[in-house]
Amino acid sequence: MEVLILPTPEEVGRVAADRITSVVRAKPGAVLGLATGSSPQAIYAELARRVRDGSLDLALTRAFALDEYVGLPVDHPQSYAAVIARDVVGPLGMDPQRVRVPDGLSEDVERTTAEYELAIARAGGIDIQLLGIGANGHIGFNEPTSSLASRTRIKTLAPQTRADNARFFASLDEVPMHCITQGLGTILDARELLLVAQGEGKADAVAHAVEGPVSSMWPASALQLHPHATVILDEPAASRLA
Ligand code: F6R
Repeated sequence: MEVLILPTPEEVGRVAADRITSVVRAKPGAVLGLATGSSPQAIYAELARRVRDGSLDLALTRAFALDEYVGLPVDHPQSYAAVIARDVVGPLGMDPQRVRVPDGLSEDVERTTAEYELAIARAGGIDIQLLGIGANGHIGFNEPTSSLASRTRIKTLAPQTRADNARFFASLDEVPMHCITQGLGTILDARELLLVAQGEGKADAVAHAVEGPVSSMWPASALQLHPHATVILDEPAASRLA
């Protein structure tokens, strides 16, 4: 695992955007794994700037989101389908037909999740998977105790995750109880993993992920099992590393 510690959250975004840019320049039809939430916003802003100035073209890329809430209407502004469409696909000039988000309204979750796995495999697998990290060490919505071999499935959100994400909703009660998430095994199948974290609130989780034993209690520690994982941190997020 390569760990980069940078002076500002903006630098984290720029260096992570450099990594994605070089993957796409080498393979214009690259398959990207997309994260939502605050952590990747600086990366998306930097990629959007490069698309606008003509130095990067993402039109041929394909993409799969990591996760989706269960039960939010697709047009709910905080459904990840809406977030990805608004904050990623549009500004980055991606083709909406080539971008998939798990269906959080499916009435047959088992079929939906199996199809999601199949779609990733048919696309040739994910070339670079972008990840944030929860304060409890989750990646995607693989909460503590998730199997390291897990595949895309329905999960219950941890109370801490619901509380942390309540900032995107009018109240805690509005945050869904369940989600569909790529599994840790699904994430580990990507050819390259890129985890970004900013701020002191992530410092404990980052220390467990990078320096702790590999444990389902700290799901991000699964990155230690991957041959090509990069962790990009600002100084507060790195502050509890030895
Ligand atoms: C989002 C996701 C989550 C977030 C994590 C950190 O698609 O998979 O693992 O990356 O909850 O969220 P932020 O970045 O909002 O602190």
